[in-house]
Amino acid sequence: MAPYHAVLVHFPVALWTTAALVILVRALSDGALAKASDRVLVPLLALGALLGLAAYVVGLLVWPLETAAASPLARNHLLVATWSLVYWTLLLITRWMQGEAVWEGVTRWVMLVLAGLGSILLTITGTLGGHLSGNPTAVSRVLHFLGWDVYDTFYLPDWVLLLLAVAIIVLPVIGLWGRRRPA
Ligand code: HEM
Repeated sequence: MAPYHAVLVHFPVALWTTAALVILVRALSDGALAKASDRVLVPLLALGALLGLAAYVVGLLVWPLETAAASPLARNHLLVATWSLVYWTLLLITRWMQGEAVWEGVTRWVMLVLAGLGSILLTITGTLGGHLSGNPTAVSRVLHFLGWDVYDTFYLPDWVLLLLAVAIIVLPVIGLWGRRRPA
């Protein structure tokens, strides 16, 4: 299945990268071109989610799961690929549900930051896949410089887990509070 995975991953990588560029253009401009490109954002993200899921499922079939689970590098790739797929799918749902309101006020900058984070996740996913197939890039040297060797199991310090637990409670509360406040 490795050749099928290698072919399929090009689709989510290209679609999510194009979506990030559309978000960049729309966040920085209210011009006609930016508005026109925003009209393809939901289809781009939807296709990205669909083909990302296909690449993900085929990725799971490349090696037996016990083999993948025995390698820190493969586990890292699986972990970050899961994040990428869920993250970009949530961005699709956000843009879909909120419509053009995401470009109003401060949320356009939130969208820009989200697109940047998603691009970083995608870059790391591809980098780890490249390592698995014998094509390492300089990105892993940057990650090493930041304190993570891609051949070691990725873990989060306890304080980050604690912070995430707090965020899981606080963020929906802020959302509900914002929704109830009169406009
Ligand atoms: C959206 C999800 C995913 C993306 C974007 C992605 C991306 C990539 C990329 C760019 C490569 C390098 C391909 C090449 O240079 O030939 C790769 C290889 C690989 N990926 Fe993924 N991947 C994803 C999901 C997964 C999952 C869920 C697994 C399961 C463990 C997986 C397992 C592998 C393996 C084993 C290889 C090495 C294949 C070989 O032997 O050539 N991938 N991936």
